[in-house]
Amino acid sequence: MDGNGRWAQSRGLPRVMGHHAGVEALKTTLRLCSDWGITALTAYAFSTENWSRPGDEVNFLLTLFERVLQKELQSLETEQVRIRFLGDLDGLPEKLQGLIQDAEERTSANTGIHLNVCTNYGGRRELVRATQRLAARAASGDLEPQNIDENTVAAELFTAGEQDPDLLIRTSGEHRISNFLLWQLAYAEIHVTDVFWPDFDAEALKKALLDYQSRNRRFGGLDPISP
Ligand code: FPP
Repeated sequence: MDGNGRWAQSRGLPRVMGHHAGVEALKTTLRLCSDWGITALTAYAFSTENWSRPGDEVNFLLTLFERVLQKELQSLETEQVRIRFLGDLDGLPEKLQGLIQDAEERTSANTGIHLNVCTNYGGRRELVRATQRLAARAASGDLEPQNIDENTVAAELFTAGEQDPDLLIRTSGEHRISNFLLWQLAYAEIHVTDVFWPDFDAEALKKALLDYQSRNRRFGGLDPISP
């Protein structure tokens, strides 16, 4: 959800107002995805690197997560959204951890779109954690190293049970992966837009989906019509 700070600064507002507006863009996008038959939406809300931002901004963000969870849980339940938070949740304030646990439990049986919120998430850290867990299982005799395959690794990631994303949307013109879902994005199509996240709307999502539809996904193979 890149570009919140620049969106605010371009309007002469404090950066945090951009995060506030970013929540509205996320709600709009979630509803559109759900209406248009997309089965999962994963948003990068707070990276392991974001702790290095000024304390005030970090505190604002953590409080914003709490407020949004408290305010929106009822509508997530009504709209059948299943919410999960992916990342090192132990590193978050206890109150937020409690709200996350409550929201995950209360929506776990919902049958609608999956909303995954990457919070205190880093792709490399996720892979290190998975490696440690596999190594521990191997050391205890529970797993033979030669039996480790892609499915075994995927099952130890925060995204266990989720399909890999088909499309990565990168807002505010950045052309980097920025430590996001490093394993899961292996074959994702990438759409880059200059739109700042708070301005991401139905038109911007439609453009991203049309861009995706125009791609020829070969997953490393050949085009069926190639000689
Ligand atoms: C990146 O923009 C955005 C963030 C670090 C925070 C995004 C979080 C939300 C919108 C809150 C979502 C809340 C819940 C509970 C789902 P940036 O600050 O890097 O913007 P810049 O690149 O313009 O500086």
